[in-house]
Amino acid sequence: MTEAAKPAFKKRVFSGIQPSGGLTLGNYLGAIKRFVEMQNEGFETIYCMVDLHAITVWQNPEALRRQTRELAAGYLAAGLDPAKSILFNQSQVSAHAELGWVFNCVARMGWMNRMTQWKDKTSGKDAEKVSLGLFAYPSLMAADILLYHATHVPVGEDQKQHVELTRDIAAKFNHDYGVEFFPITEPVIEGAATRVMSLRDGTKKMSKSDPSDMSRINLTDDADTIAKKIRKAKTDPEPLPEDISGLDDRPEARNLVNIYAALSGMTKEAVLAEYAGQGFGAFKPKLADLAVASLAPISAEMGRLMQDPAEIDRILGEGAERADAIARPIMERTYEIVGMIRSRG
Ligand code: AMP
Ligand code: TRP
Repeated sequence: MTEAAKPAFKKRVFSGIQPSGGLTLGNYLGAIKRFVEMQNEGFETIYCMVDLHAITVWQNPEALRRQTRELAAGYLAAGLDPAKSILFNQSQVSAHAELGWVFNCVARMGWMNRMTQWKDKTSGKDAEKVSLGLFAYPSLMAADILLYHATHVPVGEDQKQHVELTRDIAAKFNHDYGVEFFPITEPVIEGAATRVMSLRDGTKKMSKSDPSDMSRINLTDDADTIAKKIRKAKTDPEPLPEDISGLDDRPEARNLVNIYAALSGMTKEAVLAEYAGQGFGAFKPKLADLAVASLAPISAEMGRLMQDPAEIDRILGEGAERADAIARPIMERTYEIVGMIRSRG
């Protein structure tokens, strides 16, 4: 932990997921599983459905509302408890957009231009045609985190650079205004599968936006679909090696071993000790059984929760009020620091 995060700020966890599609096994292993663990380790935990981030690319309004509820159902089904964690959708706490604007004026164009996710999303495309919001996206993410003075942010590997940018924005704000107001936040990137790869191409991240549904496992997939996707997952003809270095040039094999380790709670070494010398014909059915056993209860519970959308909306509304109670005073203090008059009754 850095010095700045240590003394002045109490440990507070914030993270978010975009309701821009269904949840994948990547979201579950890279993020949600860790969200639940941190909640149960007794930290103050705040988890958001970042609907303002989702609209940086086109979202059908009805689909966005449904996906936001489905994401909330996924959080709850995976074990997040509204009595322990604050769960809400971002747009219900207006200070996210307000602090996002202030940070747009702190962050530099050069910093944003260096974001690899921005570069990936705009390379080979007409960068003139993507939204301005997509470029400013990491600055809004910094606002999400710093609005709560969050000290720890559990995310998958792909978000590391954005959390580092959040640290740069906090440091520049503190320096420019001569304050120690925002903490220097730590990314928490832990677990056996912080980067789950596509089942069709072991060099690409598993993503809710991949055009091929066979590339990912969705949390809403039924047992047969999960088993079929794992059976058809791309692999190589070699048996599993005895040690991890034997996976070095075998991205697809490494990915399946990582997924097995993350789902079973075993180390990768222990997985290889059990399966070394066996081919994928033997390993895949075991992995499929494990995936079905881990995900089927979550998917069933999501289905049950989705029967009562009003109850989900109620939970999000209540979470938003609790979030706002933390965020509003920090936003007001930010306005004072930057020199805005606050004279409304
Ligand atoms: P997103 O779906 O892009 O909003 O991502 C939400 C969270 O899931 C972030 O913490 C991501 O880092 C994590 N995540 C998304 N895809 C993956 C993946 N393939 N492997 C590991 N973590 C992931
Ligand atoms: N950018 C993150 C993603 O796509 C989502 C996100 C938005 C987020 N705000 C956040 C994650 C704040 C952690 C903390 O995965």
